[in-house]
Amino acid sequence: MPVYNLKNPFVAHLSKARMLTTPASAKDTRHYEIDLSGSEMEFLPGDSLAVKPTNCPELVDEIIATLKLDPEAVVMSPAKQEKPLREALLADAVITAPDKKFLKALAEKVGDEASEWAGLLEVDQKKALADYLWGREIIDFLLAHPASWEPQEFVSVLKKLNVRLYSIASSLKAYPEQVHLTVATVTYDSMGRKRKGVCSTFLSDRVDATTPIPTFITPGKGFRLPEPEDDTPIIMVGPGTGIAPFRAFLQERRATEAKGKAWLFFGDQTRVNDFLYEEEWEQYQEDGYLHELDLAFSRDQDHKIYVQTRMKERAADFWAWLEEGAIVYVCGDASRMAGDVDKAMHEIIEEQGGRSAEEAAAYVDQMKKDKRYRRDVY
Ligand SMILES: Cc1cc2nc3c(=O)[nH]c(=O)nc-3n(C[C@H](O)[C@H](O)[C@H](O)COP(=O)(O)OP(=O)(O)OC[C@H]3O[C@@H](n4cnc5c(N)ncnc54)[C@H](O)[C@@H]3O)c2cc1C
Ligand SMILES: NC(=O)c1ccc[n+]([C@@H]2O[C@H](COP(=O)([O-])OP(=O)(O)OC[C@H]3O[C@@H](n4cnc5c(N)ncnc54)[C@H](OP(=O)(O)O)[C@@H]3O)[C@@H](O)[C@H]2O)c1
Repeated sequence: MPVYNLKNPFVAHLSKARMLTTPASAKDTRHYEIDLSGSEMEFLPGDSLAVKPTNCPELVDEIIATLKLDPEAVVMSPAKQEKPLREALLADAVITAPDKKFLKALAEKVGDEASEWAGLLEVDQKKALADYLWGREIIDFLLAHPASWEPQEFVSVLKKLNVRLYSIASSLKAYPEQVHLTVATVTYDSMGRKRKGVCSTFLSDRVDATTPIPTFITPGKGFRLPEPEDDTPIIMVGPGTGIAPFRAFLQERRATEAKGKAWLFFGDQTRVNDFLYEEEWEQYQEDGYLHELDLAFSRDQDHKIYVQTRMKERAADFWAWLEEGAIVYVCGDASRMAGDVDKAMHEIIEEQGGRSAEEAAAYVDQMKKDKRYRRDVY
């Protein structure tokens, strides 16, 4: 197989896209099918796809107009390529999130006006700087603090635009020469402006069948299924876009006629608007590849119901599966969900297994050592 990486990505194309949430949803989550024909690219369920996006052209043009620069002026881009300024800003530079280098350079130009942020550039002000920058983009600073920049001078203070990772939502055995993704489009309002996440809106707004999508595989570091003939049960906890690798897992298990039991915990905001891939789970249940399915729609009632609420409601069975040697996989939000699911698992082990808090922690540690507790959280 040819080696694809950041320096040598495979340039793929979109073959299909569809909404997974309804227009009434508070979210915009989409399914993408990307054609890999000719690449000989190989991956396993649990791997991620790196996607190199390009920036929003309207934002690029607004930045160039604000700085009154010539879009055709040739610069050395942050990717160390000579190209016209507009091309460099579209393809190679971070033009949304400001960092210290940019803020320092602007502070030197605008003097006293920079007092708003200059003090936050000290090493011990990391958290305060992050709080201050939350919701602020480079364009806000350029509009609020007009200054004269040479094209190269401006490009030189910008970081190189990086790839974004997406958990792969399909199995090559079920969909040869394709890779499927489940992506939540990131949009929000801040400081009176509409903001767009670079890569998720690249996929939702700026990609059609002809758009080059540079990609490569990032291996899933142990987020792996047991062998098909191994009948170890698996428990999959994947709220929101965390569902993606488990769609790949179940496709793989059907393709390999895997023997073990499978239990899925899925959650999202509402059943009618956010039940991602609803019909597929029913089919896996009918076909005997999904033995338990527990759903947690957080906003369908007055109080929040999350995946860990369902885990605790099913504590006796959850414990029985753990004692049978089940592998627990968790995917999705790292900031809150993963910690809360971890806490719920400890509580189940204490209550159902009659363990103290320390013994439950030791039980979970042993699961980790045995590679029976695997997380892919972001
Ligand atoms: C291993 C791995 C697997 C992943 N799998 C998936 C997946 O399957 N599906 C998926 O959708 N994502 C997944 N992600 C996340 C994905 O990589 C991107 O981070 C995500 O799509 C956002 O990227 P973006 O370029 O659209 O947004 P960016 O341009 O990177 O913008 C996101 C940033 O915007 C800011 N921001 C966001 N909301 C607000 C707000 N309300 N107010 C102020 N600022 C805000 C934050 O600084 C945030 O970090 C995964 C990440 C990893 C590491
Ligand atoms: N670090 C962050 O700021 C953060 C956090 C979450 C998601 N995101 C990003 O937002 C986008 C969309 O995320 P997503 O579609 O994957 O879904 P998500 O926002 O993670 O939400 C999926 C479900 O999880 C619920 N949830 C919220 N807090 C939870 C908790 N502590 N424990 C268990 N479940 C919890 C949500 O409920 P409610 O929404 O009703 O509370 C919702 O029902 C992604 O790009 C993701 O990276 C970022």
